[in-house]
Order: sequence, then C-alpha cells, then structure tokens
Amino acid sequence: MTKEPSGKLIGRPIDRVDGILKVTGQAKYSADIALPRMSFGVLVQSTIPGGTIKDIKTVAAEKAPGVIAVLTHRNAPKVNKPKTNNPLLLLQDDTVRHGSQNIAVVIAETLQAATLASELIEIDYKESSFKTRLEDHGSSDLITAESHSDYARGNVADAFSKAAVKLDNKYTTPTEFHCPMEPFATVANWQNGKLTVYETTQGVFSSRKTLAETLGVPQENVHVISHFLGGGFGCKLVVWSHAVLAAMASQMVKRPVKLVVQRRQMFGPVGFRPKTIQQVTLSSGKDGKLSAIRHATISETSLFNNFVESCDEATRLLYDCPNVLTSNRVVKLNIGAPIWMRAPGDAPGSFALETAMDELADTLGIDPIELRLRNYAEKSPADGLPWSSKSLRECYRIGAQRSQWSDRKQKPKSVLEGKYLIGLGMASATHGTYRGSAQAIAELSVDGKLRIKVGTQDIGTGTYTIMTQIAADLLGMPISDVIAELGDTDLPTAPMSGGSMTAATVGSAVHDVCLALLATLKNNSSTNPKSPLFGIPVNDITYGAGRLSKKSEPSVQISFTELLKLSGKSVITAKVDSKPDPSADKYAKQSFGAQFARVRVDSELGTVHVTHLTGVYAAGKILNAKTARSQLMGGLIFGMSMAMFEEGIIDHQFGLVINNDLEQYHLPVHADIPEFDITFVPEDDPHINSIGAKGIGELGITGAPAAIANAVFNATGVRLRDLPIKLEKLL
Ligand code: MOS
Repeated sequence: MTKEPSGKLIGRPIDRVDGILKVTGQAKYSADIALPRMSFGVLVQSTIPGGTIKDIKTVAAEKAPGVIAVLTHRNAPKVNKPKTNNPLLLLQDDTVRHGSQNIAVVIAETLQAATLASELIEIDYKESSFKTRLEDHGSSDLITAESHSDYARGNVADAFSKAAVKLDNKYTTPTEFHCPMEPFATVANWQNGKLTVYETTQGVFSSRKTLAETLGVPQENVHVISHFLGGGFGCKLVVWSHAVLAAMASQMVKRPVKLVVQRRQMFGPVGFRPKTIQQVTLSSGKDGKLSAIRHATISETSLFNNFVESCDEATRLLYDCPNVLTSNRVVKLNIGAPIWMRAPGDAPGSFALETAMDELADTLGIDPIELRLRNYAEKSPADGLPWSSKSLRECYRIGAQRSQWSDRKQKPKSVLEGKYLIGLGMASATHGTYRGSAQAIAELSVDGKLRIKVGTQDIGTGTYTIMTQIAADLLGMPISDVIAELGDTDLPTAPMSGGSMTAATVGSAVHDVCLALLATLKNNSSTNPKSPLFGIPVNDITYGAGRLSKKSEPSVQISFTELLKLSGKSVITAKVDSKPDPSADKYAKQSFGAQFARVRVDSELGTVHVTHLTGVYAAGKILNAKTARSQLMGGLIFGMSMAMFEEGIIDHQFGLVINNDLEQYHLPVHADIPEFDITFVPEDDPHINSIGAKGIGELGITGAPAAIANAVFNATGVRLRDLPIKLEKLL
C-alpha cells in the first residue's frame, strides 16, 4: 500500500481497499450470508399482467419434501402501507397488477426443495383487460405526476412564431432494466421481536425505515446490513416486495429465510427505466442563438406508483435560452413499478435534447461545438444563480483536441474507409450536484488504528476507498492503518447512495470528523501535563505521519498512540453531524462534461461499431483518479449500452417481458467495448462542500447516447431518434 505524508493522498489512484477481499471471494454479499437453521424462499410470479387470483392450489407444494410453508395472499400476515413512496405489493389481496408480480413464496429446508415445490403451485386466474403499450395512450390517459413539476420561462409560442429556424421532432427511448451483476437477495431473521436483514440495498437506513413501517415495528428493532453490493444502478434505492416477503416469511416460520431473486424474476417487480416519448421543439436565429425550447415527455408508469422519468432537468439549464417550456406526463399501465436508473431523466432527456441540438447544427451548417458555445450559459438560466463552478468550455476544447474533431467533415456520409462509413459526433453532459447530511465517527485506538464509521453503502463505486483515503490524508496516516466501516444501521446515520451524492456527502463527513478528531488530539496534547506539548497553544501544534509537534520547534513532538497511552485511554473518539452549508444555496450546482464518439458503420450491412469514446469531465475535485476513471468509463459503457443495445421487450398480447434474461436482454460485452479516452478538467469547487468534490456516478451516462447517434448521423446521413440503434433502422 502507498504511504504518503499528509495532504498528498487525495486524488491519487489508490487501489481499492476492498479489492483483495472481492477478488479472493472473502467479501460477503447478502446471498453469501449463512446462518444456523437457515431456510430458503423461492418466489412464484404471476403469468398474467392483470386480473385476480381465483384459486391458488398450494397443497402439493406444502406436501413436497423439505417444504416448511407456502406464503400466499390467503395466509400472509396483514402489513402496513409504508409512508415512504415504495411501490410494494405484499400479498395483501388477490389482485394482479402486472406481469411477474410476486404472488407466493415457498419456504423450504433447501433452495432445491423450495425451487421444486414452487413448480407445483397451480394458479387459476380471472383475467381482466390490460394495457402495456405506452404508444396506445389516449389524451385522457396522461397524468401529471406530483413528484416532478412542469417548468416555464418566457413565452415559447411567441418565440416560435418569430423564429428563423424551428425544428420539431419526436424521440423515444425503450424500457430498460438495471441488470446489476448481483441479483437482489435478502436474508431475514426474526429473533425475539427483532429483525436482522442482510439486504442488497443502496440505503441501509431507508430500507430499515420502510421495513419497520411496513411490518409495524419500531425502527430500533430492525437492523439492516449491506457490506458489499454488486451494482445497483438505482434499482436498489428502494425496498421491493421480495425483501418484505422474506421478513414476513421469517416471522411465519420462526427461522432465518434466505431469498435470492432469480435473474428471470428481476424483469418486472424490481424496477426499470420507463419507456419515454419525448417531443422536442427548438427555435433559433440563423446564427444558431436559441430562442425557445419545448420539451414534452410522456413516460410509462405502473398502476400502483406514479414514478416520472424527469427528462427535462438539463433542458432547463444547459443552454442560455430565454424561452423554455417543459412538461412530464405519465401513463398508467399493467407493468411493474419503474424507478430511478443510471442518471434518471438526464440519460434519456439528454439523448433527445442533444440530438435535437445536432439537428439544429446540421440544419444551420454550424459546427456542433460552435453551436453549443453560442448558447453557453454563463450563469444558470433556470434560476439566474451563478455556477458554483463550471468548466464546460474547457471540456469542449480538450474533447475536440483529443477526438481529432478538426478532421471531422460537417457534411454527413463524407468519410469512407473501405466499405466502412466513419463518423464523429458529440454531445454535452451534465448532472446535478447534491450533498446530503451524514454523521460520522472517528475512533483512534492505542494500537495506532483509525476506524472511520459511516452508515453509508459502497455500491461498487469505491466508497470504502475514498473514506480511507480522505482520513489517511487528513491525519497523515498510512492507508493500512485506516479502517472504513459502512453498510450497517448500527453505524452513524447516512443517506442513500443515489443521485451521485455519496462522495460529496460521506467524503465531507469523513473530512469533518477527522478535523474534529485532530482538534481533540491537539487539545489533549496541550492540556495533559505529561505531554511534551503541554502548555503550547493549539495553534502552534501541527501534525503529520501520525504525530503532533510544535510548529516552531518540530523536535518537541509526540505520536498519536503515545498520547493515548499517557492519557490512559484505549481510544479517542470524535463524532460529527455533517450538514450542507446553506451558503451553497447561493449557487447553481452541476457537474459538466463533453462526450465524443467515433463510429464505423458497415455501408453494406448497416452494422454499427463504436470505435472510440472520448469523455472530458469537470466535476470538482477528483478524490481518486483510478476509481473515478472507472466510474466514468462505466458511464460511457452504460451510455453506449443505451444507445446500441438495451431494450426491454414486452409481448403486448400477453403483457409479459419476453427478453427476461441476460442472453436476450442485450448488454455490451468485451468485444463491443471501444477505446476509451477519459480526461478530468482540474476543478476545485470552493462552494459546494468542504472537500470540493461534485458527483461523478451519473455524469458519464448523460450525453453519451446522443454523441453516438450523432456520430452515426455524421457517418451515414441517417438521423436516429429512436433507441436503441439497430442496423434495420439504417438500411
Ligand atoms: Mo442512482 S439511479 O441515483 O442509483
């Protein structure tokens, strides 16, 4: 492990501190948890999208070898509706509201016995009419979701009527499933009125709240643990029904229950990105200066939640445009509940907006980067606030250089290499920067180890690593002496890992608690008569490499551990409740980037290969160059995946997802992966938080699909407004 003096660790490409545990199989994921007397639950899901269960025959399953119980709506304990907005269907009635709805759980001595018995359950449905196709909506089906309001500034209609150029086009994105490598899994154990849950979650505290509310027990009686997560991408931000059902089952059989959701059971009842239909209208003068943007989105939602895919977030603030009107409507269908996924709203929204901008550039004969510079927003057009920091211009400049933009031909279908058409496209990326409140504890013990405790989660992004890195940096200690603890509701309270806010939130809390610990150490060294620093004012005490010393006379010093020993303490603790500084509200806070794609299209077959993806990002201080690069590379892969592959397909005759496995739901594999070129523009935002870091998790997904579609246009002259890009759309 790297050893560095204080102040030199933040930003360095430190290896993941949990990397060895992961690659050697020592990291225990929820499904790996083994408890004495464990029983195993298997879900049974509906094979119709709407109707009622007339009869459910469970006798054969109950009599099968090893079966302990079968939980259905007939014997399920009554539970509460959660106050939180979790879309839960918990066997409380006989109604089927979507295909693959969880309608029974078989609990047995072994997974095999439960799986076999689950096949023996016979269900007699009364089917009702259903709707699963968003395109079939009538105007009366359009619902305004309260969670995300419409937006207006200026007068769009007036601007459109006077505009030199006006473009009006429809863009669509399909239903997309999160497909984390690690499927959902819950181990639930009721003992003496208390529930312990090992859960695949992006929020241990929010999970605890929902479980407690639903099950009608105080939150103190629920303990949620999630030490490692194999991806979440948003679907693990809420508690889904299987987790509560596992807890209900454990209460019923009075044993621990392990319930792992099968891959094919993940396509419906555990969230997805809803299909969107987006109408974007742009107007400008001949010089490309935008005069108006209208962005109207319709997205699909379930019968039992009102989730809205908020595609207009970037439209409100990305460009300096006086007249903007956006709306978001949802249509209720017999589908599972959609939920946040990989830059919710911003990923499909930026596809529409940034493709429309490319169309405007093409119509006017203006270079796409130049068009964006002519509409550069020097302050936030949404609220008039100054940006806390914004280096988008630098992103364009560096990205143009690195992608050889100057060689690009503005006229499409201009570059042929053999039988391949070559194209280059770009798009802007942006994502909101958020910071929540988090508590943190730092414990320095006499053995020289520093424990940093925060009840956050590491969803695979590197939270363990940056917690360790920030603490080691601030206290001048080696990485190997710092132990980060997270993923447990017994630890200090922290928010969900979502909205790309964990590094900014948890990083700031770790920063603050380390400074608090340092202040305590300095104070102890100055006030303890046995200390060599006794009587020296704290502002004349400095530190480094695990020692405190007198600034003006460095030979007067004491190590942290000696100080603990002579204070007669085995541990010194600091605790903070780290909150956003309200002065940050005087600024508009966004991270920015520019994405560039180079594609090669087979002129005979129409096959598209993305050969190069260049991303340049300005996202505040980068805490770890290695894990940050991995995240932005992940963002580009997700963006490419969205552009080229992902599409949940529902058979509308039966109302069921038909490509419900990783063979038929297409995700990129190594052979699909292009050359990546990822650059960070140095930024240290002084306003957003104590560590100057913005979020990076979702930024890289925004813009990338449009950059690819724009590159395909540049290569072929075919404008693609419907994702994913498929060869038949090019022929
Ligand atoms: Mo993210 S979609 O907020 O996990």
